[in-house]
Amino acid sequence: MVHFSALFVIVFATVLLVNCDLIPTLFQEQMKECHVWTTTFYENPNFHYNNLRRQYDGCTHVMGNLVIADLSSYDIEYDLSFLRSIRYVSGHVAIYANVNPAVVPLTRLEVIRGNTSFRDDPAVHGVSDITLLIAVNNHRQVLMPKLKEVSSGNVLIDFNTSPDLCYLDTIDWSHIVREGTVHMSSNSATCPPCSRACDLAASWRGHCWGRADFRCQRPSGPIQCAEECNDRCSYKDPSVCCHDQCAVGCTGPSPRQCMLCKDYQLQDGSCVSHCPYEPWTNPRGQNCIPLE
Ligand SMILES: *[C@@H]1O[C@H](CO)[C@@H](O)[C@H](O)[C@H]1NC(C)=O
Repeated sequence: MVHFSALFVIVFATVLLVNCDLIPTLFQEQMKECHVWTTTFYENPNFHYNNLRRQYDGCTHVMGNLVIADLSSYDIEYDLSFLRSIRYVSGHVAIYANVNPAVVPLTRLEVIRGNTSFRDDPAVHGVSDITLLIAVNNHRQVLMPKLKEVSSGNVLIDFNTSPDLCYLDTIDWSHIVREGTVHMSSNSATCPPCSRACDLAASWRGHCWGRADFRCQRPSGPIQCAEECNDRCSYKDPSVCCHDQCAVGCTGPSPRQCMLCKDYQLQDGSCVSHCPYEPWTNPRGQNCIPLE
């Protein structure tokens, strides 16, 4: 009996060991890179919506732009749950001229790189170089609870008709927008205050994406970085600035210690502005991998 259980332990341990190899891949999220550079507007509202969904469905990284616009039919209850997978957009995000749904769930979006601006034309409402546009919608909530960085360009939030969108007014955009400015028409309604849970420090109070406790805006690292760090410092030590190629934040000064990369990531984990293998680049998500 003793022998039998010892054997069992050995067999079981072997199975575990073999399976250990699988663990990293099991936990590694499936990445799907999508390239969307232009948006076509179809006249048929169903066709238009289905086309949008097809373009972004399951994407984790959008190389190009995320444009959710002209959802204009009151007869359709648009379902934007396909946006939940998106974590990174290399160009701009534009959400405009939509009559519904109530909630735009960009719940995993962390970085908008801002390498292209909305409509590259001089100005919309007097603002140019727009990387994030939320305008003329009737959404009640645009949820981007993980958005930590708009790396370049400006933000314009204007002419939205739903008074419930007022929580966007409470967001500390200066912490998110790295280089540009934020233009926001103050909402006519004032929201009830954010949950008390959102008061993280004397210098960080009342920032939230919605009313519930779990809708608090959280800073991307320490609330107060050393001045020379320009708001991006190590989680472990506010006097250690993050590397220039980091998005969001870091755990130390090296380009291998970024929470996320601004542009591309090499196989050794370091963040770089260009993929050195070009033109044989084979980026998957932001990962730059040489073709075999
Ligand atoms: C964004 O633009 C910068 C500066 O031109 C460039 O180095 C970088 O590769 C671009 N990133 C992406 C993801 O296209």
